[in-house]
Amino acid sequence: MTDKPATTTAPAAAPKGLQNVIVGQSKLSLVNGTEGKLIYAGYKIEDLAEYANFEEVIYLLWNLKLPNKSEWEGLRKALFDNMALSAETIALLKSFPPKATPMSVLRTAVSALALYDPKADVNTVEENKRKALLLTAKTPTIVAAWERIRNGKEPIAPRADYGLAANFLYMLKGTEPKQQEIAVMDAYLVLLSEHGMNASTFSARVTTSTLSDMYSAITTAIGTLKGAAHGGANEEAMNMFFEIGSADNVEKWFNDNVKNGDRRVMGMGHRVYKALDPRAAVLNRKAKEMSDATGNLKWYDLASKLDKTARADEEFIKKNLYANVDYYSAIALYTIGIPIDQFTPLFAIARIPGWSAHVLEQWENNRLIRPDVDYVGPMDLQWVPIEKR
Ligand SMILES: CC(C)(COP(=O)(O)OP(=O)(O)OC[C@H]1O[C@@H](n2cnc3c(N)ncnc32)[C@H](O)[C@@H]1OP(=O)(O)O)[C@@H](O)C(=O)NCCC(=O)NCCS
Repeated sequence: MTDKPATTTAPAAAPKGLQNVIVGQSKLSLVNGTEGKLIYAGYKIEDLAEYANFEEVIYLLWNLKLPNKSEWEGLRKALFDNMALSAETIALLKSFPPKATPMSVLRTAVSALALYDPKADVNTVEENKRKALLLTAKTPTIVAAWERIRNGKEPIAPRADYGLAANFLYMLKGTEPKQQEIAVMDAYLVLLSEHGMNASTFSARVTTSTLSDMYSAITTAIGTLKGAAHGGANEEAMNMFFEIGSADNVEKWFNDNVKNGDRRVMGMGHRVYKALDPRAAVLNRKAKEMSDATGNLKWYDLASKLDKTARADEEFIKKNLYANVDYYSAIALYTIGIPIDQFTPLFAIARIPGWSAHVLEQWENNRLIRPDVDYVGPMDLQWVPIEKR
């Protein structure tokens, strides 16, 4: 992958970062970066964020249709039945160093789930759907359990009367979540659950294309999501807001660090969206509503001012840089009381249904994904024995 022009003998090189390269077909989502539109299996993201809960969207991604009442209840029950962690998984989490970062913990714990699944390597549609359900159900419990274990507390078991969003908050904090918190959590999970051929989804599909198993594909995807250019940006955005400190300091910070420095505004810019990310628009509203409800608008006001400052900047206008999904979600999650280093694990919780749907889709029409590289190193070097080098 270089920017070198194609020669007559070699196939054309893909653009750096595979920008705009179509690598396959999918029925899962359409990301229209020019108009700022996102559609899951035919449904507008704005409608899903407003009206659907996470379980309805999980069903949609796995079945390409919305569930009726009994299908929804069946999925909700099946998820609950798979949510609790085994004694082995809890013991594993307790063996980790308390300072281990939550994304590394999640990556390791998800990988370890395969060790206790006798059919981990059976790649039939039926077994892959079972593993998708298991991973979607257990991941929130792993993330919540780690939060408690690293703080010297015992993990909390899930409650049958709660859906996935409410159960995550309950198991994380140990208190009954408020209705508004559950609604914002559901909207967040819905908005983040699928997004075309993003880097982590591509990783999951590459792993699957080698005929490897669902656990390996999801573990790969978690590792890819962790980076600051991808899912890690939500944590970086919140830390940036803390560094700025107050809305009064926004312009000075922007001028010193972004205009006159090498830094980027974390949570802004996107490979595909050259218009406002539609998820950011919804999360902006949710972050404001949550901040209003808690009576603390400090971080929302700061983020909003930085957004306006950046959008008024000629470079940001010229390069079409807008807030992305991670920008306002950082404020929404912080206001609900999610610890900052748990933002990216929460992103992973949301994306497991999308990743697993892509794994299932890859299996439907698989071919090994194996691109090529343009060798630009030296040729015909003479071998020199080690003692003479
Ligand atoms: C998301 C991101 C990695 C996309 O990268 P990309 O498509 O490869 O785009 P590039 O890194 O080539 O950036 C294109 C130009 O915009 C600038 N740019 C991109 N994002 C920027 C940001 N957040 N702040 C300031 N400038 C930014 C780059 O400096 C570059 O300018 P140049 O052409 O003068 O060198 C990038 O926008 C970014 O780093 N954003 C911050 C991290 C983030 O929020 N990630 C979450 C994505 S959902």
